[in-house]
Amino acid sequence: MDAKVHALLNEQINKEFYSAYLYLDFSNYFEEAGLEGFANWYKVQAQEERDHAMLFYTYLQNENMKVTLDAIAKPDKELTSHMAVLEAGLEHEKYVTSLINDIYAAAYDVRDFRTMQFLDWFVKEQGEEETNANDLITKMELFGSAPKSLYMLNQELAARVYTAPSLVL
Ligand code: FEO
Repeated sequence: MDAKVHALLNEQINKEFYSAYLYLDFSNYFEEAGLEGFANWYKVQAQEERDHAMLFYTYLQNENMKVTLDAIAKPDKELTSHMAVLEAGLEHEKYVTSLINDIYAAAYDVRDFRTMQFLDWFVKEQGEEETNANDLITKMELFGSAPKSLYMLNQELAARVYTAPSLVL
């Protein structure tokens, strides 16, 4: 495997675990705010991010490439309001999309078609992640300012359940 592609795939393990850590921080924010449905939604999101990390980890191992684990950074987003959390989520997913695109571009440059095929799942997943983050912002804009509708939205988000990723390595 090309050294740059290898380094970027290895770094992505850390970035995905950071995402899980960030969403746990979001979940904790909403738990403290008494919005347990939102807290559940982000806890499930954190589980998905852990799965993403493990997919990169397993892919490198399957390719007989060395995995090097680094320290996970402290969640650094300013959680000043419900909306600020949701907006930080969207901003973060756009950043992750740019990381996936960078790995894809590096793999493309060296004709690493296997890595490109592996990353195809993440390209699609990032589209869904951004859509979900956008949808949350829209719902909060529509319903977040009235207690009754915020209660209903919280109930809706409480129903999110974890499902294993469709990509199996
Ligand atoms: Fe692992 Fe939210 O992207």
